[in-house]
Amino acid sequence: MSDVVIRCRQHGPFVVEGPVTVIDHEGNAFPIAADKPAIALCRCGASQNRPFCDGSHKSCGFQAAETAG
Ligand code: FES
Repeated sequence: MSDVVIRCRQHGPFVVEGPVTVIDHEGNAFPIAADKPAIALCRCGASQNRPFCDGSHKSCGFQAAETAG
């Protein structure tokens, strides 16, 4: 079982909890503070800090409310 949990935020980012590394298309890792318990990955496309969420989903009209049940 993985120690990583990905939470789908309603109308927001994917919040990734656990020890993860985010690699760009050239194979380089984005810097993430070692003591950071979670990161938020943008899925609306509006962030100015992609691949990370910067809160822009709140004002761009992004809609996402998938459920697993
Ligand atoms: S999901 Fe937050 S800025 Fe895109």
